[in-house]
Formats: sequence, structure tokens, C-alpha cells
Amino acid sequence: MWRQMEQLYDMGLVKEVAMSNMTIPKFEAVLPKCRIKPFAHQMELHPAFQQNELLEYCKDRGIFPIGYCPIGSPNRPDRDKTPYDVTDTEMQEIVQIANAHGIHPVSVCLKWAAQKGIAPIPLSCSERNIKSNYGCVHSNPLTQAEMDLISKADKNCRLVKGHVFLWEGASDWRALWDESGIICDWND
Ligand SMILES: NC(=O)c1ccc[n+]([C@@H]2O[C@H](COP(=O)([O-])OP(=O)(O)OC[C@H]3O[C@@H](n4cnc5c(N)ncnc54)[C@H](OP(=O)(O)O)[C@@H]3O)[C@@H](O)[C@H]2O)c1
Repeated sequence: MWRQMEQLYDMGLVKEVAMSNMTIPKFEAVLPKCRIKPFAHQMELHPAFQQNELLEYCKDRGIFPIGYCPIGSPNRPDRDKTPYDVTDTEMQEIVQIANAHGIHPVSVCLKWAAQKGIAPIPLSCSERNIKSNYGCVHSNPLTQAEMDLISKADKNCRLVKGHVFLWEGASDWRALWDESGIICDWND
């Protein structure tokens, strides 16, 4: 697939080519074979799921991090919900900071991402929310103490588990994310 993406780039049909939902083991396997480096990596990133190791891996290689579900995807499909999921905008630290700034907890999540060098991509169908989401990252930044507080509040809570991409006989959704540090065998 990447060879085809590189061809699109060569033909001038796209300005950049990028990847999504990679893991460090998958990057390690693929990056040495890429003639054109991925410009960006779209990955799940929000205060309850900070993925620092993968984030730093991307930044160190000049791969721009794009954060999906940046406010915790409150309306994600039921198949991606479990009783253990954390709601970012209800996290005590996020609410506390929001109250101190007199802003909505959503804005805290987006400011946090932008200040960490992530491009958060909140989805909204509401003009008011779109304006607020765009505007909030351009003013009234969080303090370093607030950034540190959120860093410590990471819950390692993945929201998009990816059940729909599992293969027959796979153990569970964790197999998709190479949590053991190696790429899971398709026969596992
Ligand atoms: N690469 C991937 O595998 C992958 C996986 C998942 C998602 N994504 C992409 O990431 C983007 C965002 O993901 P997402 O939509 O799941 O999660 P999200 O952006 O964290 O949450 C979107 C929800 O938040 C609400 N919202 C947005 N701004 C708000 C505000 N200021 N105040 C209150 N509520 C607000 C929206 O409702 P309203 O419409 O009412 O504002 C919407 O229901 C999407 O474009 C999606 O396609 C990519």
C-alpha cells in the first residue's frame, strides 16, 4: 500500500503521505522500507490516553503527530465502549483546570494537545463548538504546572480498541496494538 502512496506523491497528486494507527514495532518494520517518509501519524491521543512512548518516537523521527478522539470521543460506537473507559472531560484534573480558567473541559483537552506539539482533530457538527475548538488553542495557554498535572493523570485508557479489525481466532483487541513489543502473529 505504501508503494502506491509513494507513487501518488511522485505523480504530484498528493502533497504528503501519512500513516495511522501504527505501533513502534510496525514502524520499525516499515520505516526502513519507505522511500518517502510518512509526513504524519494519526493516532489516538487525549489526556486519558497519552501514548508518550509512541508520541516521542514519532517526534524524534520528524513524523508529525495528529491526535484523534482528542476529547475522548463521547459519541463513539457502542462496540468501542467498555465499563472501564475513562471520560476525559470528567477527569478530576481536567475539570479542576477548566474551572480555574473559566472554560469548558473540552478546551483543556485541546489546549493540552496543542501545547504538547500534537495537532488535535476534534469532530463537531456544531458551529459554536467548531469555533470554540479552533479558538481555544490560540489563547490563554495552560501553565507548566497544569501541563504536568495532566501528564501525571494519564490513565492508559484506549477508547478505539479496533474490535472490527480482528481476525478469526485472534485472542482479543490487544493483539492489534503489539503491546508485548512484537508484531502479533496473524495465526495467534
Ligand atoms: N485514524 C483513525 O483510526 C481514527 C479513529 C477514530 C477517529 N478518527 C477521527 O478523529 C476525529 C475525531 O474523533 P471522534 O469524533 O471520534 O472524537 P472527538 O473529536 O474526541 O469527539 C467528538 C464528539 O465531541 C463533541 N464535541 C466536539 N467539540 C465539542 C465541544 N466544544 N463541546 C462539547 N462537545 C464537543 C462532538 O459533538 P458535537 O458535534 O455536538 O459538537 C462529538 O460528539 C474524527 O474526524 C474521526 O474520523 C480517526
